[in-house]
Amino acid sequence: MYLVLLGAPGAGKGTQASAIVAKWGWVHVASGDLLRNEVAKGTELGIKAKTYMEKGALVPDALVIEMILKRLVNPDTLKGVMLDGFPRTLTQAEALDKALTEQNKKIDWALYINVPAEILVTRISGRWICSQCQTPYHAVSAPPKTAGICDKCGGKLYQRSDDTEATVRERLKVYFAQTSPLLDYYRKKRNLIEVNGDQDIGKVTEDVIEELGKVQ
Ligand code: AP5
Ligand code: MG
Repeated sequence: MYLVLLGAPGAGKGTQASAIVAKWGWVHVASGDLLRNEVAKGTELGIKAKTYMEKGALVPDALVIEMILKRLVNPDTLKGVMLDGFPRTLTQAEALDKALTEQNKKIDWALYINVPAEILVTRISGRWICSQCQTPYHAVSAPPKTAGICDKCGGKLYQRSDDTEATVRERLKVYFAQTSPLLDYYRKKRNLIEVNGDQDIGKVTEDVIEELGKVQ
C-alpha cells in the first residue's frame, strides 16, 4: 500500500500519520522531517534546504525527489508507505508515479485532510514537536501530560523555526499556489479520499480509519 497524505500546513498530516501507521504497520515517510534531519546534521542537502525552509518556500524539486526516491528503496517500505509532505508539486507527483511504475507499484490512495484556511495559523502557532520522535502537540488542543516533555518517548519538545506567523502565511500561500493543484491530479485518477480535518483529533482519526478501512 502506497498512500499520500495531502493537506495544508497545519492540517494535521503529522498528527494523523502516527495513528495511521500504528494501525496498519506502514512506514511514515515525512519529507519535512527528513529535511529537518539533514539541516540538523549540516549535510550538503541540509545546507541548501535550510535557506528555502526558513523563508517558507519549497526546496527545489530535484533535491527533494532524489531524497525521497532514495528513502523509498529502503526495505522497511515493503510494509507499506504513508508519504507525508511529498509530493508537493505536479513535477514531484509525476516523478513519483514514474519511479513507482518502473517498479510495478503505484500510489493506491491520496488522503486529503481538509481544514479551513483561517484556523491553520492558530494551529501552527501553538504547535510543539518532540525532538526525538517528531510527535506534534498543541498548547491548547493537544497538550502533553507534562509541559515540555513528549508523552510517548520522554523527548524534549521544541517549536519549529519556520512556525512564526510570517513564515506560516508564506507557507500557506505556497501551498495554495503549488500544492493544492495535486488534489485535482489525484481526483482525476479517481484515487482521492477526503476527510473533514476540522474536528477533534480523535474524530478525524476515526474518520480516516473508517475511510481507509473501506479500501483495504
Ligand atoms: P513540512 O514539515 O511538511 O510542513 P507543512 O506541510 O507546512 O505541514 P506541517 O508539518 O506544518 O503541518 P501538519 O499537517 O503536519 O500538521 P500537524 O499534524 O503538525 O514542511 C516544512 C518545509 O519543508 C516546507 O515549508 C518546505 O520548505 C520543505 N519541504 C517539505 N517537503 C517538501 C517537498 N515535498 N518539496 C519541497 N519542499 C518541501 O498539526 C499542526 C498543529 O495542529 C499541531 O500543534 C497539532 O497538535 C494540531 N492539530 C492537529 N490536528 C488537530 C485537530 N484536528 N484539532 C486541533 N488541533 C490539531
Ligand atoms: Mg507535518
